[in-house]
Amino acid sequence: MATTRELQADVDTGAIAFSVNGRSVVVSSSPSQRLSRVLRDELNLTGTKIGCDAGDCGACTVLLDGEPVCACLVAAGQVAGHEITTVEGLQQSPTGARLQQSFLTHGAAQCGACTPGMLVAATALLDKNHTPNETEVMDAIGGVLCRCTGYRKIINAVLDAQSSTATPEVSPEAGAAVGKRLIRLDGKKKVEGSEIFGADETPAGALAVRAIRCPHHRARFQFGDLDAFVRDHPGIHAVLTAKDVPGKDCYGVISRFADQPVFAHNEARHRGEAIAAVVGEPAIVEALDPATFPVVWEVLPALKEIDAALAPEAPRIHASREENVLVRGRVVRGDVDRALAEADVTAEGEYETGFVEHAYIEPEAGFARRIGDHIEIQACTQSPYMDRSDIATILGIPPENVRIIPTAVGGGFGAKLDLSVQPFLALAAWHLRKPVRMVYSRTESITSTTKRHPARMRLRAGCTRDGKLLALDFTADFNTGAYSSWGPTVAARVPVHASGPYYVPHYRALTRAIHTNLVPAGAFRGFGVPQAAIAQEQLYDDLADRVGMDRLEFRILNALDDDTPTVTGQIMGEGVGIRACFEALRPKWQAARKQSAEFNSKTTGPLRRGVGIAGMWYGCGNTSLPNPSTVRIGLKRDGRIALHQGAIDIGQGSNTIVTQICADALGAPIDRFDLISGDTAITPDCGKTSASRQTFVTGKAAHMAGSQLRNAILALVKGCTCASIQFEDNRVTVQEKDEIHTLALGEMPLDKNGYVITAEATFDPPTSPLDQDGQGTPYAVFGFGAHMAEIEVDAELGTVRVLKVTAAHDVGRAINPTLIEGQIEGGVAQGLGMALMEEFFPGKGENLHDYLIPSAGDIPPVESILIEDPSPIGPFGAKGIGEQAVIPTAPAILNALHDAVGIRLRKVPATPDRVRAAILSAQTQTKTKIKTGDRRG
Ligand code: FES
Ligand code: FES
Repeated sequence: MATTRELQADVDTGAIAFSVNGRSVVVSSSPSQRLSRVLRDELNLTGTKIGCDAGDCGACTVLLDGEPVCACLVAAGQVAGHEITTVEGLQQSPTGARLQQSFLTHGAAQCGACTPGMLVAATALLDKNHTPNETEVMDAIGGVLCRCTGYRKIINAVLDAQSSTATPEVSPEAGAAVGKRLIRLDGKKKVEGSEIFGADETPAGALAVRAIRCPHHRARFQFGDLDAFVRDHPGIHAVLTAKDVPGKDCYGVISRFADQPVFAHNEARHRGEAIAAVVGEPAIVEALDPATFPVVWEVLPALKEIDAALAPEAPRIHASREENVLVRGRVVRGDVDRALAEADVTAEGEYETGFVEHAYIEPEAGFARRIGDHIEIQACTQSPYMDRSDIATILGIPPENVRIIPTAVGGGFGAKLDLSVQPFLALAAWHLRKPVRMVYSRTESITSTTKRHPARMRLRAGCTRDGKLLALDFTADFNTGAYSSWGPTVAARVPVHASGPYYVPHYRALTRAIHTNLVPAGAFRGFGVPQAAIAQEQLYDDLADRVGMDRLEFRILNALDDDTPTVTGQIMGEGVGIRACFEALRPKWQAARKQSAEFNSKTTGPLRRGVGIAGMWYGCGNTSLPNPSTVRIGLKRDGRIALHQGAIDIGQGSNTIVTQICADALGAPIDRFDLISGDTAITPDCGKTSASRQTFVTGKAAHMAGSQLRNAILALVKGCTCASIQFEDNRVTVQEKDEIHTLALGEMPLDKNGYVITAEATFDPPTSPLDQDGQGTPYAVFGFGAHMAEIEVDAELGTVRVLKVTAAHDVGRAINPTLIEGQIEGGVAQGLGMALMEEFFPGKGENLHDYLIPSAGDIPPVESILIEDPSPIGPFGAKGIGEQAVIPTAPAILNALHDAVGIRLRKVPATPDRVRAAILSAQTQTKTKIKTGDRRG
């Protein structure tokens, strides 16, 4: 190692010398350059991630002389003569290596974007304290945000790190992968920091692209002299505007509703909408002050609220959409008015939720290059084939001329289903015929990408005096922002789900998605169902209270069964596991209620405890629309198996789960598989990663392809289906009783795919269109679940602390229990954020400092209970879990809040000011009632 003296910054030459991972380096950066940039751009140590460039996310955490620091806040000049350790250097220390192994074993890395920062922060702790307790671990990683895992697996991985061994995992025997807690197949790269995310590769000589965005909620604009701007700015190569879109300047995730231009034409409909893009030398483009860009704005009155947008005099945001209504949804069954009139007991309420930001740790990024009349885009995405089709439309070229190469995705949760950097990259590479790169800043990501829909919901429900649900009347308006995005999906899905997983014979659910001049709302884990559950699950608690029933027993009484019709008239026949979920919670509910009551009876201070419960259901896949997946597998001459599966793994684990399913269907050991993911040039379309469809739909296609390959091998040797197949290097052996056949793979011809045998299968879930009353079969499979939240409220401060969440989910078949628990814990964390802290206000707090998401210290222990009521159609009976996991947490917490202090919050999140105000209001009402009673007396 170099001496400190040798490693000083050389002021004369501008060189900065320091040590990285034990290696002496000298860089020529400006001393004020961020260390994070130096590590990534000059030293190619891209394991250090940049999530915010502001000290808020901790993704860039490195060790500076053994102490964790945010590399984005450290100037290069400050590290001269010092020792830096990044994730790439952790393996050199026994602590770091053990931690990496422990992260793998515990499933502590999902998308992996936070993982380097987490590992580095935890290494710093363990180097000083070999046996930390849970609080010390939480403190140590408290500055590193994770949006996927819910932190519990990370905490456990750190606690267990010292006992973790680096012994490689033993691959399960052929046919025994399903149900095993396998380490994720892409996990090693995540813990070593070698995974390639959107911003981690830059083609040589790439120009930078930067969007110029509207700073107002609504504004007309006129460009100045753009040619002069380019001329006067050496290093700027071009400015692109709407005039430079050669194809159709209109895209959208649902083609029937496509309405979004790449660049606004004359008028920007929301803050953050792009009006132009500057392309040029990276340093010049980065240093550009957007205020110097030649544009004149005329600020126009903006429609920000639902009521303002619906007002008769409101201007139309899209000329063809009357009343600014994008779309309506409707499900009607029975006679809801009569049933409510005849109900023994009714309850009603109005609930509101706000915008919620996805806050994945990886901002959108990628690069593009033009190759002849083809374009290639490498970027983070949840939906490569949808991107391909929209980019083809924008460029006016056939889809086959567009290649989308998905990188690893550092969290998506729905927002990376929509285009972000891709159209800008495509246009710039197309016109300039040079490679181009674009990386969103955190602020740009928050300002311009989609959000969870704010909802305003009104509902009324009725039941008999013995608690049987009779009717629910539900209406909801969703603020869908300036463009359609997934607004139609939310408006269509919510009416199907707003009953919750209960038998409701008389039902009416009407929804509208309404345009405003705010950022487009789109897909976010649950497509509107989490908002609906907040309203409906609180209302059912009110009904249970009114009939004097235990709130859990009320739900069990009304839970859907295999043979009861849903609100769309669907009878599932089997695989309805909601009752089992509630029943699994029953003993825990009773114990928790008792403990909470005991605590409250003894306490004299402001603390009150409460327990809440909520149920959920969620249809896997598109609502009454085709959503096929195609999987191809190929047997190679060396005896290995190529699995082309295009289900994008955004951290949820589809790379591993789909392989587990395919391996068992084929009867091959999982370590025989070579995974080929997502690239549209080499992998068939597996649809988008959304709506909890990948385990179910792509998993089923993988099951079918695996079975098909097995049958093809058996057919070659005329073997019976009972024969066993052994996959070995260069050969396959089929054994049937004493008869053994060998396929010498090296001698067999190759097919057009380059394989000895190829099998390809497509699965499209059987659904039916809904009629005008929303009756039909919208989904082939539903997932079910119920959460119980135990909380403590400080009635004086209005603060809420969640003490524990117990989550029971019917997953059909737990293909990989560790990954499923990871989804549940991550969903709970997002649900907790939605319930207690997260609300995005366009134009305010567009960063991770002001927009708060849960950190490690906010997350309670989560107990997952996996129920396996197999789906008759899912692969090995499996159902989805991704969206399901988030839905019941917020209503369970809000019901616990009511249980603790008797307040019903009509607007979430339940921030301390709102909780305190509601408590005071409730106290005032109680006093008024007492006074009124006194007077009467
Ligand atoms: S990138 Fe440094 S703290 Fe977020
Ligand atoms: S695994 Fe932590 S942000 Fe994705």
